[in-house]
Amino acid sequence: HLSVQERIENKRKAALVGGGQKRIEAQHKRGKLTARERVELLLDSGTFVEYDTFVEHRCSDFGMETDQNKFPGDSVVTGQGRINGRLVYVFSQDFTVFGGSLSGAHAQKICKIMDQALLVGAPVIGLNDSGGARIQEGVESLAGYADIFLRNVMASGVVPQISLIMGPCAGGAVYSPALTDFTFMVKDTSYLFITGPDVVKSVTNEDVTQEELGGAKTHTAVSGVAHRAFENDIDALLNLREFFNFLPLSNKDSAPVIECQDPSERLVPGLDTIVPFENTKAYDMLDIVRGIVDEREFFEIMPNYAKNIVIGFARMNGRTVGIVGNQPKVASGCLDINSSVKGARFVRFCDAFNIPIITFVDVPGFLPGTAQEYGGIIRHGAKLLFAFAEATVPKITVITRKGAVQIIFRGKENQAEAEAEYVEKFANPFPAAVRGFVDDIIQPSTTRRRICRDLEVLASKQQNNPWKKHANIPL
Ligand code: COA
Repeated sequence: HLSVQERIENKRKAALVGGGQKRIEAQHKRGKLTARERVELLLDSGTFVEYDTFVEHRCSDFGMETDQNKFPGDSVVTGQGRINGRLVYVFSQDFTVFGGSLSGAHAQKICKIMDQALLVGAPVIGLNDSGGARIQEGVESLAGYADIFLRNVMASGVVPQISLIMGPCAGGAVYSPALTDFTFMVKDTSYLFITGPDVVKSVTNEDVTQEELGGAKTHTAVSGVAHRAFENDIDALLNLREFFNFLPLSNKDSAPVIECQDPSERLVPGLDTIVPFENTKAYDMLDIVRGIVDEREFFEIMPNYAKNIVIGFARMNGRTVGIVGNQPKVASGCLDINSSVKGARFVRFCDAFNIPIITFVDVPGFLPGTAQEYGGIIRHGAKLLFAFAEATVPKITVITRKGAVQIIFRGKENQAEAEAEYVEKFANPFPAAVRGFVDDIIQPSTTRRRICRDLEVLASKQQNNPWKKHANIPL
């Protein structure tokens, strides 16, 4: 007979190998790390505190009740730890145990750490690698998804929630990541879809591969479901650590400040010549953004989707800021449906989590055409307006240039003359400045200095919108 102590130790050891060495090797062969290896890489070394190591599934159908079908901890590793010393809750689905599928017990483990994260005010990171609902459990498993979705929604706007897709994520399972703030993917080894290629074929007769349907490229460039993709597990987890450093722990916390080596008063001489005078000439807004922010470090969000708008996180004098910029390089920086939605959701995240927003404007207007009108550009464009208007965080706007002069005089006999007159009258900063629509006209090279000073002033900004249950943003 084993002592209680020995039984505890044996279970703990068994939990460490999940579904067993053979399945671990199969996981590695696919180029994937195990659930525990991922947690180790994500968190500061030695900080992981695991919960529910001894939890087992409760299914007694289909032979599931036998010892060989029970794995301590079941198919998910959960707990809390630190990233650069800051608290985070994490769950990591273990593909080596029933394909990481979600049992009732698995769902309860996730719900427990989400509840705790909300109570203490710390972000939740989910590492997803799962074959979906635990087939043997049926409705018990599906109910587990409902419990997680509810918590995703309750936590939205209270603590940051990040999903990293590191394997399959299909069917109902996709909606937990979709409800979180950011969804990242690993190239080649992860995919997200509601229904897989076989079902698609039988319903719509389309031939599509798993990768085409729901791989990282599709979701970061076409659907806009995922916010970034990384080369492999290690690259993804290290980037996630970097990303985490930008975020406050909760909506009651202010954006983190790190020590800044880059002088806030630094002039950026290149900016004086970067923007071509002619409205028709493009430049890269990313050059302006990188020139201005601390250490040229910009963590771009959705870099391959709706490229006519640029969004992402950076720091000014050590403090996190959200950047929104029109991108004249793509579609002349015109706003369209996708860029409006991309921008709006980002602005709302920043506002929910006390991150000041800096906007670089050079926009000729909304993209014309039936595709846009039929697609509902009025409704979707309204989201961007709505998001900026309801945001109470410090907001600083830099207008780098403006456009659209050609359009109004098109076909006129003396077009060139009329355009010249218009430029003289309106396409310069004075009409806006004399009316007080802009606060100042600044030398481009002084932009960084000016924004840093203004952010300092605005740090104590207090603004409360009228009480409401919630606003009714046009969805
Ligand atoms: N429930 C229970 N067990 C599951 C499972 C699920 N939803 N998904 C996978 N598994 C098990 C497999 O039976 C297999 O078990 P084994 O190691 O004892 O042989 C193990 O997980 C690995 O799955 P496998 O199919 O060998 O891996 P794969 O990489 O070839 O395929 C999936 C992965 C996810 C595409 C495939 O397992 C699958 O289609 N799963 C079912 C998806 C589904 O219908 N989910 C329910 C609806 S949401």
